[in-house]
Amino acid sequence: MSDKKRVAILVSGGGSNMVSLVDSMLNDADHPGQPCLVLSNNADAGGLTKAAARGVATAVVDHRPFGKDREAFEVELVKPLLEARADVVCLAGFMRVLTAGFVRQFEGRMLNIHPSLLPKYKGLHTHARALEAGDERHGCTVHEVTPLLDDGPILGQAEVPVLPDDTPDDLAARVLVQEHRLYPAVLARYLRGEHDILRLN
Ligand code: GAR
Repeated sequence: MSDKKRVAILVSGGGSNMVSLVDSMLNDADHPGQPCLVLSNNADAGGLTKAAARGVATAVVDHRPFGKDREAFEVELVKPLLEARADVVCLAGFMRVLTAGFVRQFEGRMLNIHPSLLPKYKGLHTHARALEAGDERHGCTVHEVTPLLDDGPILGQAEVPVLPDDTPDDLAARVLVQEHRLYPAVLARYLRGEHDILRLN
């Protein structure tokens, strides 16, 4: 039996970060992880097709029937993760806020990528906020997930310059290139037990 860690990836949209994670595992025989599931709250998420094309199992738990009842949604969300026997969970553009109860089930084994240099700009609209603040540097962060939003221990950061005429979309595209470098690098290190901060420029 393989001693690789089983990695589940949660997506809500296009899933480009998920693709970078899956490909990093599938293209490296010595990688300490293997993708076991791509799970989405959105049946239309482009990431689901991309995962299936790579031979990775997919599942959908639509959040909408549960309205504001996050716990009831999460009761269903956890089932495919348990069935897939996920050792580690990577949030990759998963746009639902998780309750403390859910997070605790995966404490110390759930990662997230966030498009800012945390602790700056937790939450949404990070690129617009960096521009409004006049920042000269912006970037992305991979961190361990704890019950507070975008708040857990930082595992890696990658920086980009903010250029004079940048729009939020320009900046998002420049940051996304770095996300695709940072997340696979941090995941591989994390699975090997390396928790010191990786800094990419
Ligand atoms: C990425 O930029 C990711 O950092 C961000 O959503 C995008 C998803 O793109 N995540 C968040 O904002 C989480 N709060 P992708 O679906 O192409 O990976």
